[in-house]
Amino acid sequence: MDEKRLLAGLVDPVGERRALSSNTFRRRLRLRFGYVAALVLIGLTVCVFLQPEPLLEVSNWSPMASKEELMLSKTPIYQLESKKGEKRPVHTSRRLVPFEAHIMSKCPDAVDCLRELVLPTMQQVYDKVNFTLSFIGRPTSDGGVECMHGPAECMGNILELCAHKLNPDPKIYLGFTMCISNDYERIPDRELIEGCALEHAVDFEALNECATRDDGQYAMNLLRDSVQRTKEVGVTKSCTVRVDNKIYCIRDNGEWTDCPSGPGVHDLIITVEKLARQN
Ligand SMILES: *[C@@H]1O[C@H](CO)[C@@H](O)[C@H](O)[C@H]1NC(C)=O
Repeated sequence: MDEKRLLAGLVDPVGERRALSSNTFRRRLRLRFGYVAALVLIGLTVCVFLQPEPLLEVSNWSPMASKEELMLSKTPIYQLESKKGEKRPVHTSRRLVPFEAHIMSKCPDAVDCLRELVLPTMQQVYDKVNFTLSFIGRPTSDGGVECMHGPAECMGNILELCAHKLNPDPKIYLGFTMCISNDYERIPDRELIEGCALEHAVDFEALNECATRDDGQYAMNLLRDSVQRTKEVGVTKSCTVRVDNKIYCIRDNGEWTDCPSGPGVHDLIITVEKLARQN
């Protein structure tokens, strides 16, 4: 809302006031009204400017909003767009909170973990985090990578890394990753990959090119770097979720383990919001 225009429009009766100047009584009344109007306007302007910004966010995760939150968590991530005209509060000098999930593309725990924790959380905090999807595997001495569920899993990991390279927006590559994970036994079946690429606006030809560039050396390097990173931070289980470079929760053998704050989306969102506020 443009306060200046509002102010001008309301205060303009000054001109009208002059026309009535023959009648002193009415003029005084008008003047007095003018003062009152000006005071009210100043008050309003001050309120608008001083409206505490955090109010907006608190309401996002207050218990009152849990229904909406639930609905949001069921919305596919790629359908999430900020509502028209709804401006997100501008955060200056805020750091992005490191948020990372370590997975294997053909691991059922990774599927649960993405579906139940990572994606619903990302839908709400994607602009406050630096999200990284990392892979678990064993770098081999010949420059390759060994994956627990075989070469097909390595290929799945590579496709997910390539989808990320081609589409840095987590809404896209996480949507694509969730899509193929839902059918993880078929990874890297061409029909599955092509269907999910189409559904999430990932260029299938580009994906193919990325996976096969330099005889696959380019993609293998992506996978090696990712696997190496996981190894360096000491993560061994798929799926391990880390926040601010510390283990937040692990999904292992169909159970949540090592989750001191619980495996709840709500609690994870609060944790991220809190960390984002610290600078
Ligand atoms: C995001 O995190 C990755 C590591 O996961 C790091 O390499 C990168 O520099 C970070 N980016 C920003 C903008 O913090």
